[in-house]
Amino acid sequence: MCGIVGYTGPRVATEVILSSLKKLEYRGYDSAGVAIVGEELQLHKDKGEIAVMESTLPSFEGGVGIGHTRWATCGRPSKPNAHPFTDCQGRLALVHNGIIENYAEIRRELLAEGHRFTSETDTEVLVHLVERNFEGDLRQALVKSLAVVKGTYAVVLVEKGARHIVAARKENPLVVGLGVGENFLASDVTALLDYTNKVLYIMDDEVVEMTPEKVTIYDPSGRPVQRRPEVISWSAEEAQKGGFEHFMLKEIFEQPEAIRNTLRSNLEILENGGLLGNAEASSVKIVACGTSYHAAMIGKYVIEKVAKVPVAVELASEYRYGTGAKEHPLVVLISQSGETADTLAAAREARRRGCRTLAITNVVGSTLTREVEEVFYTRAGPEIGVAATKTFITQLVGLYLIAMRLAQARKAMSVDELRTMRAQMQQLPQVVRKVLDGSSKVEEAADMLADARDVFFLGRNLNFPTMLEGALKLKEISYIHAEGYAAGELKHGPLALLDSRTPTVAACPKDHTYDKMLANVAEVQARESPVLAIGFEGDRDLAQVASRVILVPEVPPMFSPFPITVVLQLLSYYAAKRRGCSIDKPKNLAKSVTVE
Ligand code: AGP
Repeated sequence: MCGIVGYTGPRVATEVILSSLKKLEYRGYDSAGVAIVGEELQLHKDKGEIAVMESTLPSFEGGVGIGHTRWATCGRPSKPNAHPFTDCQGRLALVHNGIIENYAEIRRELLAEGHRFTSETDTEVLVHLVERNFEGDLRQALVKSLAVVKGTYAVVLVEKGARHIVAARKENPLVVGLGVGENFLASDVTALLDYTNKVLYIMDDEVVEMTPEKVTIYDPSGRPVQRRPEVISWSAEEAQKGGFEHFMLKEIFEQPEAIRNTLRSNLEILENGGLLGNAEASSVKIVACGTSYHAAMIGKYVIEKVAKVPVAVELASEYRYGTGAKEHPLVVLISQSGETADTLAAAREARRRGCRTLAITNVVGSTLTREVEEVFYTRAGPEIGVAATKTFITQLVGLYLIAMRLAQARKAMSVDELRTMRAQMQQLPQVVRKVLDGSSKVEEAADMLADARDVFFLGRNLNFPTMLEGALKLKEISYIHAEGYAAGELKHGPLALLDSRTPTVAACPKDHTYDKMLANVAEVQARESPVLAIGFEGDRDLAQVASRVILVPEVPPMFSPFPITVVLQLLSYYAAKRRGCSIDKPKNLAKSVTVE
C-alpha cells in the first residue's frame, strides 16, 4: 500500500520526509520519491528501496515538500511510474494513493489538449487535471479536478514558490500532524510520531489546506470544519498495526476494502473483454500452492457451475511431473506473492506445453507476471502477516470474476444472470463487514479449539476447500494439528480418531448439502467430539445438533465461502492468541517460498 508524507515548516523538508517515509516502509513499496518546494520544484525518485533513492538525492533546500512510497497497482514498478508527478509547466507536484477508475478517458482528453505524460500510471492524470483547472487557487483547482474523477484517493499537492500543502481524501487514509510553527501530513500516524502526537484525521470527501501556522479542513460543500485534535498514545509499532494487536488481525479486518478494491479495478476490464479475449477455452487447469491452492479448488466449483467449463486443479509442485497429455488450453496460476518457486516453474512448464497462461497475483511486476501472457491483479494491498487472509479472499473474487468472464464469452449465462451475479458480488464487502462485527462471538468460540491437540474441519461441495483452508490457517499459526475433510469421507477412516478431546468445525450453510451436513454433525457429536457449526442467520436447527453455533449473514450458496472463511480466520487467530503464539511470524514459515 502506498505511503504519503508532507511537511511545511522551518526544518529541512527532505530530512523530515525521508525519516517519515522510512516509518511507512512496513506498508510495502517498490519505489519512492520526494518533491521539495523552492524557487523551482525539486524532484527526485527511483525504483527500489528508499535508501536507493536517498543515495543519489541532491541536497534540496526548502521547508515544504511531499514524499511517497509506491506499491504498484496501475503501471509497473519503475522510476517513471514512481511519485511525485509534476504538471507540464513544472509548477505543481502531486502524490496519490488509491485508484482513478476513469483515468484512461481523462488521459485521452488531456493528451488531445496537449498535456504531456511521462508514466503509465492512473495518478498522473490528476496533476494535469489540476494544471488545467488552476487559476491561482490550488484548493479550488483540486476540488474542481476531483469532481470529474471516479475512484478513491488520498491526494497531496504542493506548488512552486508557495508554503502551503493541499490535500483531499476519499476512502484512503490521511492524517494531519500538528506542530508548533510547522505541520505534517501522512497516510498514518506512524510517520508522524517522531514529531508530534497531536493529530487530525481527515474524513472522506474533505479537503485540507495547511501552512506552517495553520491547518484548515473543508467539508464537501467548501465550509471550514471544526475538529478537535486527537492525542495519540500509541508506540510506533502499535501505530503500524493501526491499533490492532497483530498484522494478521488488521489484515482480516481490511477484507471488505480489499474485496471492494479488487472488484472496482477489475469488473469493467473483464466485462469489456479486456482479459481472456476470445475466451473459448474448452477446459481450464488451475495451479497453485498452499492457500492459493485452496482458492483454486473453490474456483473449480464456481467456474464449472457458472461457465460450464471443466476445470482441473493441481498443486504447482506436482505439475511438472505430469505428462502434458490432453493438456488444458488455459492454465491459471495463482500466487499472492508472484514469487513462489513451484508456481513459477509451473508457469514455464505450462508455456512449454503450449498452453495459454493467466496469473492471479497481488504483486504488480512480480516474477510470475513476466512468465505469463495475462495477469489478473487482486487489490488486497501488501500482506505482512505470514498467514494469507485478505489475499485469499481477493483471489476468490478474482476466480468468481473469471468464471463470469468465461460464462459471458461462452454464453453460459444470460445477461440478466450475469447482472444478478455482479450485484451479488458487490454485496460481499458488507457481508464480510457483518461477520467482522461479530468477531467477539468468534473469539469466545475459539476457546473450544485453543487447548485441543487435533481439530477436524468438515465441509461439502465448495466448502470442502473452504474447510481445508480453515485447517491450514489453524495449523500454521497455532501449531494445533488440524485436518480438513470432505464431510462425506468421515466414515472412510477419520471417524476412528474422534473423541471428546477432538473438536470439529463444520460448515453448514443452508444449501443443497445442508441435510447431509446435519447428519454428519450428529454423527460426530455421537462420538463425543464437540462440534462448532457455522451456519446462516435464522437457522434454529443447528443448535439442536451442534455444541456451539456461529451464524453468518445468509448469502446465495455459491458465495458462502466468503463469510465462512472470515469466521475460520478469526477462529485461528483467537486460538493462536490464547496459546501465545507468534502469530505474524509462525515458526519455520516464510511469506514467500522462493525455493522448490
Ligand atoms: C498461507 O497462509 C501460507 N502462507 C502459504 O500456504 C501460501 O499460501 C503459499 O506459500 C503460496 O504462496 P503464494 O500465494 O505467494 O504463491
